[in-house]
Amino acid sequence: INRRSTFLSDPVSDLIDVENREVSVAALHDPDLYELEMERIFAKAWLLLGHESEIPNVGDYVVRLMGEDQVIVARAADGQVHVSLNVCPHRAMHICIADSGNARVHKCIYHGWAFRPDGSFIGAPIEKEKMHGEIKSKEQLGLKKARVTVYGGLVFATWNHDGPTLEDFLGDMKFYYDMLFCRTDGGLEILGPPQRLTIDANWKTAGEQSACDGFHTLTLHQSLLEGGAMAGEENTEHESAPAMYGVNVSGNGHSLRCIPADTSWAMMAGKTHAGMTDDERLELMPPPGITKDLLPQVRKNLSAEQLHVFAKAPPVVGGMFPNVNLLFIYSPLRDGTLGSAMVMHSINPKGPEKFEWVTYFFAEKDTPEEVKAMMRAAATQGTGTSGVIEQDDSDTWPHMSESARGVIGRTETLKYQAILGETRPDDWPDKAKVYSGFSKDDAQWNWWLAYRDLMLAEA
Ligand code: FES
Ligand code: FE
Repeated sequence: INRRSTFLSDPVSDLIDVENREVSVAALHDPDLYELEMERIFAKAWLLLGHESEIPNVGDYVVRLMGEDQVIVARAADGQVHVSLNVCPHRAMHICIADSGNARVHKCIYHGWAFRPDGSFIGAPIEKEKMHGEIKSKEQLGLKKARVTVYGGLVFATWNHDGPTLEDFLGDMKFYYDMLFCRTDGGLEILGPPQRLTIDANWKTAGEQSACDGFHTLTLHQSLLEGGAMAGEENTEHESAPAMYGVNVSGNGHSLRCIPADTSWAMMAGKTHAGMTDDERLELMPPPGITKDLLPQVRKNLSAEQLHVFAKAPPVVGGMFPNVNLLFIYSPLRDGTLGSAMVMHSINPKGPEKFEWVTYFFAEKDTPEEVKAMMRAAATQGTGTSGVIEQDDSDTWPHMSESARGVIGRTETLKYQAILGETRPDDWPDKAKVYSGFSKDDAQWNWWLAYRDLMLAEA
């Protein structure tokens, strides 16, 4: 009872020790805290729901999650993407019970109330009997609508209609995300429907790891490093792990690890970038996810500062607050460069001890089909349900959640005390917080501070 009342009045002051950079393990388990997270984070933040290339035609829809709320992401007659709560306003039945499809009319299977893809109410069967009643107008009986922004083709939505725009939510980090999502004329395309895997763990175990936990690579993924399945980090001597050195960028809880082009990225192709100009570097090794013939478009669509980041240390792995993970998986191409699908995950909470790990693969739309096939194969091998990399990661998350179940275990703390501090190389753009050096705890700690801010904000 005490614990409950503590959380309800001040959900985080006992859990997050700002001075010592520690978080109570109890945060990975508590059901009351979980309910507050659903209200204060998942009903407020901008959430990734997929990509508009999944629903190219009018009537196309997919069903996705915002927290534990199912939503219908549909292309309506106006050509726009609409996100509507998948809850019938009559008696709360799910309107769509398939994961995806095409429908000009969504008809509830219970009593037959019908809705358009934009969520508006059409009517109930036997119109003359007025089975929707006369107290409320048809305009008042539509599905609840979320606020939508399509960014680089990615569909984001929030229930916070009066809150910050997606652009404000991303802040300075948009500079880096533009480099990944908005760099070619054709934009990104999704490579097939997402995989979904349920993991018995609290969503924050994967959420905070996505905020640039590079350090675990050396140990948890050691067998992959030894087997050569993870590029550029094959030297598993902890003292000389070149890909651990780079530039972590972080803002508003979002973060990306930028790994120097002349360590991991080029090592895999056996190349060195020393002494080259930005143009020469990009020519030798285009940024992750970009084939050589797309380079002119990248040059056209991005600024000189962004191209410099690509040439020096391209963003390779990271996330978006609160529940997106992002990484590139490489596959060698015939021209000596590397192809790489961009993999994005959303981490969808399904209770305090369960989340869904959703895996999306992306390629630039104008990538040749045979290269896309290689990218998809490499991504499938590395990530998601069958992925050799993420089998390692997803093995740790349930253990951490289980630790939090013990009454003694939950008195332990998670520690973020390996501090690098803000260190911006002279030639690095003045965007977001920049941590240059060995990948330490800075960005992950910023993730928790963003979490704390939202949890303490007015409900
Ligand atoms: Fe949907 Fe009755 S619950 S029509
Ligand atoms: Fe990992």
